[in-house]
Amino acid sequence: MSHIDRSFNDKFAEAWYNLGGDFSYMFSKKLINYIKKNNLSPKNVLDVYCGAGNFLAEMQKTGIKCVGTEGSKAFVDFNRKNYADQNIEFILTDALEDFKTKEKFDIITCIYDLVNYMETFTEWETFFKNAYKQLNNSGMLVFDFNTPKRLENWNTTVYEQGKDIDYVETVQSNIHGKTVINYVYYVKSGLTYEKTSTIYTETSFDPERIVEALKKVGFKNVKLCDFELNELTNITGRNKIHVIATK
Ligand SMILES: C[S@@+](CC[C@H](N)C(=O)[O-])C[C@H]1O[C@@H](n2cnc3c(N)ncnc32)[C@H](O)[C@@H]1O
Repeated sequence: MSHIDRSFNDKFAEAWYNLGGDFSYMFSKKLINYIKKNNLSPKNVLDVYCGAGNFLAEMQKTGIKCVGTEGSKAFVDFNRKNYADQNIEFILTDALEDFKTKEKFDIITCIYDLVNYMETFTEWETFFKNAYKQLNNSGMLVFDFNTPKRLENWNTTVYEQGKDIDYVETVQSNIHGKTVINYVYYVKSGLTYEKTSTIYTETSFDPERIVEALKKVGFKNVKLCDFELNELTNITGRNKIHVIATK
């Protein structure tokens, strides 16, 4: 993924920690429940492009060893400070799909439609290959993606006002064939508000093609699920799909 915005600053990381990280925080609860329900006992988890670590912070409370990769130095610096008293390792990597770690993992996650940030299917395939390589046998790759249906006509503006942060999220589809997402945070700083923002695009591919690519890489079992991680019997019309691919 060559379009990473390296201009993030600490303010953006902090704003994401306080607001944007809610999705990955909530997802940690669903995954912990899935682990219990299926009597799994994972020893470690790697969260690829972990943002402000909201997911890992919850996972490590269950005793699982936690590691996160990040392409943004601002996020890594923020996390190393913010979680200094917790046993979570943060690794600065390059592109999302190009992570390499010394150890292998029982679970690898990539949360909040991050795979959609990769613009070409070759990048998605590289990501699947690297995840497969870094997993232990029977390990799981867990990620979610916005479907082509979702990106077809996704146009929205969300505005929220909080005590210390206001934020505006704008989504526009069909901008030169892409979906463009813009987050602007206004973070209170003394008597004024400081602006911090990011802009990125999302791209999607047919779910069948994604499943086929995962199987081609070697994953034995690929489940398409809802947010509760219950397997879907029908994916027609869905905006978001969660994938559990087992090695
Ligand atoms: C805001 S974080 C979310 C990550 C985390 N999985 C979560 O759910 O909280 C977005 C991630 O995408 C990466 N990224 C790459 N390019 C980006 C861009 N242009 N704008 C925003 N995030 C970008 C960031 O480094 C970060 O890892």
